[in-house]
Amino acid sequence: LKIYIPRDSGALALGAEKVARAVGAEIAGRDIDATVVRNGSRGLYWLEPMVEVETPAGRVAYGPVTADDVAGLFDAGLAEGGDHALCLGDPEAIPFLAKQTRLTFARCGITDPVSLADYEAHGGLGGLRNALAKTPLEIIEEVTESGLRGRGGAGFPTGIKWKTVHDTAGPQKYIVCNADEGDSGTFSDRMIMEGDPFVLVEGMTIAGVATGATKGYIYLRSEYPNAHRILNEAIDAARQAGILGKSVLGSQYAFDMEVRVGAGAYVCGEETALLDSLEGKRGQVRAKPPLPAHEGLFGRPTVINNVISLASVPIILDKGGAYYRDFGMGRSRGTIPIQITGNVKHGGLFEAAFGMTLGEIVDEIGGGTATGRPVRAVQVGGPLGAYFPRDLFDTPFDYEAFAAKDGLIGHAGIVVFDDTVDMLKQARFAMEFCAVESCGKCTPCRVGSTRGVEVLDRLRKGVAPEAQIEIVTDLCNTMKFGSLCALGGFTPYPVMSALTHFPEDFRPAPVREAAE
Ligand code: NAI
Ligand code: SF4
Repeated sequence: LKIYIPRDSGALALGAEKVARAVGAEIAGRDIDATVVRNGSRGLYWLEPMVEVETPAGRVAYGPVTADDVAGLFDAGLAEGGDHALCLGDPEAIPFLAKQTRLTFARCGITDPVSLADYEAHGGLGGLRNALAKTPLEIIEEVTESGLRGRGGAGFPTGIKWKTVHDTAGPQKYIVCNADEGDSGTFSDRMIMEGDPFVLVEGMTIAGVATGATKGYIYLRSEYPNAHRILNEAIDAARQAGILGKSVLGSQYAFDMEVRVGAGAYVCGEETALLDSLEGKRGQVRAKPPLPAHEGLFGRPTVINNVISLASVPIILDKGGAYYRDFGMGRSRGTIPIQITGNVKHGGLFEAAFGMTLGEIVDEIGGGTATGRPVRAVQVGGPLGAYFPRDLFDTPFDYEAFAAKDGLIGHAGIVVFDDTVDMLKQARFAMEFCAVESCGKCTPCRVGSTRGVEVLDRLRKGVAPEAQIEIVTDLCNTMKFGSLCALGGFTPYPVMSALTHFPEDFRPAPVREAAE
C-alpha cells in the first residue's frame, strides 16, 4: 500500500509535515503494511495538504487534511480508499485537474520526485535517449519546430537561442538554468523542481548535448531551501545512474551540473545580473551586446533558460516538436503553466494550451474571489505586469494578444484583486518595489522610481493632481524607453495600466471622498 503526502513547500506550509507524522504513527499503531511516498503537489493548493492512497481501482484523494483528521480517516478506511467527508475521489477527475493539459507537469504530484525508477516508469528519459540518437543540430531543429519560447517571460524562441550557442566557438560552454523565480504570484519553477526535478536535469542535459556545453548551473533563489535539497538528491541520483558525468548514458557526450544559491536580490533574475552573481560578484546588470549566448558565464557562450523552458524540452524530444506545436495559438505554441493566486477561490497551478481567455481563467477555473466580492483587477506577469480590468477579460492567454493590450504574460502568474483594491496604492507599490530592488546602474530606474513614489504621494494628498498625472506619465515614458533592463523598463506597466483602466482611483482624496 502506498500513501502519498506532498513534500512540496506549499503543502508543507499548510501542515503536510504534521500530517505525514500522524499518518506514520497510525500506520505503526495499526500495524498496516504501507509505505509513505513524499510526492510533489498536484497544484490544487486550496486542497493541500492532499493525501492520496493507491487502491486497486486507482488513486483516491483526501483533502485538505490536518493532523487531527488522520485518525478519523484511518477509522473510515483510508487504507482502502474508504469514504469520508474529506474524500475527493479520483484526483484526476477533480475539474481543476481534469480540464488541464499537463505536458510539462505530467508527473508532478504523481511520482516520487527523487526516485529515478519512478521517473522512468512514467516516461522519463525518453527525450534524452531520443536526443542521443540525433545530431546536435537535429535536436535544435526539433526544439525550433516545437515553437517553444522562453517561459521566464520574454518569450524568445528557445531553438534560436540554442543555435546561437551551438554556432559560437568556445573552449567551454555552459547551460545556466534561471531558477531565481522572483515574480510575485509565481511558483511553477519551484513546484516542478520539488515535484519532478529529474525533468529539469533531463532538459538541461539535452541542452548541453545540443549546444556542446559540458557544465550546467541551476541558479536557485535562496528562498527555496526545500527545492535545493530535492534538486541535490536528484542530481546525485542522476550522477550515480550515469545520466550525468563524463559519458551521458554511455554516449560520447559529457555533462554535469550543480546548484548555486542566490542571495535574495530580485534583479538577479535578470540574466546578466544572474551571471555576475554566479561568478561571485555583486549582481549588476550588464549592457547587451554581447549576448550571453556569445559571451556569458565567465565570458563563455552560455544558454540561459528559465526552469519551465528547460523542463518542457524532454517531452518535445520524446514526442516530437510537431506534437508540442499542435497545442496553442498564433505564435504561442504548446502549454503554459498558469499560476492563479491572490484573492481567488481556487488558487493553484493550471497548465493549459495557450489561448484560454483571462476571464475563463479567473472566473471559471479560479472560481472568482475568495472573499466572494466582485473581481476588479487582475495583475498578470508579476510585479512588473499590467493590471487588467474586467473589460479586458476576453484577452486570450498569448504573448502577442497581451502585448497588443499593453500587457505581458511574463512568467504566467496572475494575481486577483476584489473591488476593495486601491489602484493608486498598487501603482505606488510598483514604483516603491522598483526603488527597493533597483541595481542602481541606470538613472531612469534608480532615480525615476524614487521620484515616482514622491509624485504618487503628492497625488494621494491631492496636490495639483493634473500636473502629477502628467509628470508620472512622462516619467513612465522615460523609464520604459531609457532603462537598461526590464526592472526599470517594465515598472511603467503596472503604473500606467492602473492609471489608464482605473482613473477614478487617481483622483485626489477630497474629490474621491465626495464621490463616495
Ligand atoms: P530580452 O528580450 O532582452 O531577452 C530574451 C532572451 O533572449 C535573453 O536570454 C537574451 O539573451 C536572448 N536573446 C535575445 N536575442 C538573441 C539572439 N539573437 N540570439 C540568442 N539569444 C538572444 O528579455 P530579458 O530582459 O531577458 O527578460 C525580460 C523578461 O523577463 C520580461 O518579459 C519579464 O516578463 C521577465 N521577468 C521574469 C521574472 C521571473 O521571475 N521569471 C521576473 C522579472 C521579469
Ligand atoms: Fe539596474 Fe534598474 Fe537599470 Fe535594470 S533598469 S540596470 S535594475 S538600474
